[in-house]
Amino acid sequence: MILDKENIVKLLQSQDEDFYLLLKKAREEKIKTVGNMVYFRGLVEFSNNCAKDCYYCGIRKNNEKVIRYDVPEDEILDACRFAHDRGFGSMVLQSGELSSPAFIKRVDELLKKINKLSNGDLGITLSCGEQSREIYRRWYESGAHRYLLRIEATNRELYYKIHPKTENHSFEKRLEALQFLRETGYQLGTGVMIGLPFQSLEDLADDLLFFKKLDIDMCGMGPYVEHENTPLYNQRHLLQSPKERFKLALKMIAVLRLIMPDINIASATALEAIDPDGRRKALDAGANVVMPNLTPPDYRKEYRLYKNKPGLLEATDASLKKLKNNIESAGYQIGWNERGDSKHFTRRTQ
Ligand code: 5AD
Repeated sequence: MILDKENIVKLLQSQDEDFYLLLKKAREEKIKTVGNMVYFRGLVEFSNNCAKDCYYCGIRKNNEKVIRYDVPEDEILDACRFAHDRGFGSMVLQSGELSSPAFIKRVDELLKKINKLSNGDLGITLSCGEQSREIYRRWYESGAHRYLLRIEATNRELYYKIHPKTENHSFEKRLEALQFLRETGYQLGTGVMIGLPFQSLEDLADDLLFFKKLDIDMCGMGPYVEHENTPLYNQRHLLQSPKERFKLALKMIAVLRLIMPDINIASATALEAIDPDGRRKALDAGANVVMPNLTPPDYRKEYRLYKNKPGLLEATDASLKKLKNNIESAGYQIGWNERGDSKHFTRRTQ
């Protein structure tokens, strides 16, 4: 089957037998192309300060109910050491979007220190929003080699239904930032939210075709989950049930695996806000990356992007063991001490 827009929409509509068949095919494609390895990225949400006002996000600038924090450097480094000691191949450093010189410098120094403490073993993914070409370059030179910047929605009209129409939230700037990241040499990751109000299956099919055209190396996408202190909450009557959004997210992962067989696809945390077994189900639908949350517990509840965000403490040996057993009993192997770079990137740049 040619995976053009029309056929992708059909796949996204699949129900019952067809739904299971789609997931099965995606899983087979994954095993064939990238194997049955699952890679861990230790996630540290190191700051919830944000200059943006995205209508869906719980840590938007105008949400005054959030207590703003910056995790001190030594605590971030402790989380990295924890991950490195236990054989995690990589870290993901995520924050709200800031571009102040102090923030840029802070990230820069952090990158150098993480490299030093792990002798360059730990892969580092940054997820700190839109920045200038120069800043992306500076961070790359200091040791970040992957970057996640979700496009959130590739339909421009939809983009402006979920973001304020201001200079600070320009759709064109988001596209440009993705281009800068690509040119700098990062392994490039993007993604969208699934099940947004006003979003059609055609939009989602276009999102997938956009990923293909941009030739991304990694993808993180998950269901939209409403948050009570955000403007988009007012549109919640337009939403599909959480179960339906969850199912649609699995279908998106599966179709993406069929369209781009050798990229890394993360099993998004938001899946677990809907289904406690969401991460494993995403692995069965074609995902191959899991991001255990290593944010120090005191800060965690202030990084609530959406409601029911799992507060799982995964920085303990007991909970890691549980996660490991869950993944292994589903038939996967964990890629301990491997960075788990995107095969697509390796092939693309060889
Ligand atoms: N529901 C689901 N995902 C969300 N994000 C932000 N707010 C929400 C929400 N309400 C996602 C965005 C962002 C990522 C860090 O979290 O896609 O890129």
